[in-house]
Amino acid sequence: MTVQEKSVTAAPRGPAELKFGEQSSQFPVRSGTIGPDVMDISKLYKDTGCFTYDPGFTSTANCASRITYIDGDEGVLLYRGYPIDQLAENSDFLATCYLLLHGELPTNEQFVAFRKTIVNHTMVHEQMTRFYTGFRRDAHPMAVMVGVVGALSAFYHDSTDISDPGQRMIAVHRMIAKMPTIAAMAYKYSIGQPFIYPRNDLDYASNFLQMCFAVPCEPYIVNPVLARALDRIFILHADHEQNASTSTVRLAGSSGANPFACVAAGIACLWGPAHGGANEAALNMLEEIGSVDRIPEFIAKAKDKSSGFRLMGFGHRVYKNYDPRAKVMQKTCHEVLDALGLHNDPLLKVAIELEKIALQDPYFVEKKLYPNIDFYSGITLRAMGFPTSMFTVLFAVARTIGWTAQWKEMIEDPEQRIGRPRQLYIGPARRDFPK
Ligand code: SDX
Repeated sequence: MTVQEKSVTAAPRGPAELKFGEQSSQFPVRSGTIGPDVMDISKLYKDTGCFTYDPGFTSTANCASRITYIDGDEGVLLYRGYPIDQLAENSDFLATCYLLLHGELPTNEQFVAFRKTIVNHTMVHEQMTRFYTGFRRDAHPMAVMVGVVGALSAFYHDSTDISDPGQRMIAVHRMIAKMPTIAAMAYKYSIGQPFIYPRNDLDYASNFLQMCFAVPCEPYIVNPVLARALDRIFILHADHEQNASTSTVRLAGSSGANPFACVAAGIACLWGPAHGGANEAALNMLEEIGSVDRIPEFIAKAKDKSSGFRLMGFGHRVYKNYDPRAKVMQKTCHEVLDALGLHNDPLLKVAIELEKIALQDPYFVEKKLYPNIDFYSGITLRAMGFPTSMFTVLFAVARTIGWTAQWKEMIEDPEQRIGRPRQLYIGPARRDFPK
């Protein structure tokens, strides 16, 4: 599906005119490379004394960005212009990190240098291991991630001066490199096994698998099919425009907070079941459904507003067509299950049948609710040996490049200033304290 290119010669639409009572105001319209134009309303309050009102920011652009583009109606996702399915097929996660960070795919020399830099930052300060012992063994690993990643700023003072481009880049490299180590340590701590150090001879996904599943008592052989699948899963989750957690990172960064604290805030936001927590929630939902014959009961619940139940892994704020990542995720899911001899996984049967029934049901068709990336990722990750509680942690590992690339773009954007939305006040008018 080609993304409709704006014809270069098409002049942007004229200024937007707002008639408001007797008053008329004009606001400039800006066009991007592709996608919707924007009306620059930064002077709206000054001109009209009014705010816009847009809960959830359904019609609000908070920045100009060069990193990722989504066409929700066409089901298109581009990282620096490259379609996600082509990157998933032809690239690898570390090269995709370079692309998202620097804007171009790396040459061989650039990739070798970038990989060496990342590899040299994969260990964490040995004293950071003590943070883990402060948590209960059954603490949710996302709670551990929020705490330990936030604590990075207590160890790496030499890369918290956000005004220094060199320090900004070191902080970004450190987070890309250390997130898998921190995540794997959270998993090992939860199962009472010793931490496994990163290995510099392995690629990013293989290293993460060995830090999670190796034990000191015997050699660990990485399954190349699982490593390739995990690398592709990381690519699919790397960035996604101004989603809730990325917007959180940008807002935190707009105050000048250090990058480690900003990413910790992003992790906290990603944890929500409406966002990154949906992969964990989707698998729990499939397990609750349990068998194909119970699907109609859950479809009915999802259509009944009073139930408060939603089909987890379905629907998206932007995609009103199939999530292009979900297609690649489904293919990866089948590859992993086949490689592990689990193609008869009962949950996969429930997922495939649920998708088929939902996509024929008028409720889901009318509301344009399609499976999103979280629908198949849970089945895949569970088959790979990860517990459900680690699913969103893996999402956070992958999204770290998106968060940090967007944070860096925000810091370097001359238009950016501290984010400070206004409100529609509906509370009590001024009143005096009772004598
Ligand atoms: C991610 O933003 C991103 O880019 C996020 C993400 C990324 O990579 O960063 O893509 C990752 O978060 C994917 C989404 C994962 N979340 C889930 O799968 C949770 C289940 N989905 C929903 O909660 C919901 O679809 C959202 C949160 C994803 C989108 O919410 P919106 O855009 O605010 O849509 P909405 O809540 O206004 O729903 C529109 C209508 C409503 O019905 P009406 O009030 O119009 O009658 O659709 C219904 C909703 O009730 N609806 C669902 C539904 N999702 C929406 N009904 C049943 N099941 C669902 N899953």
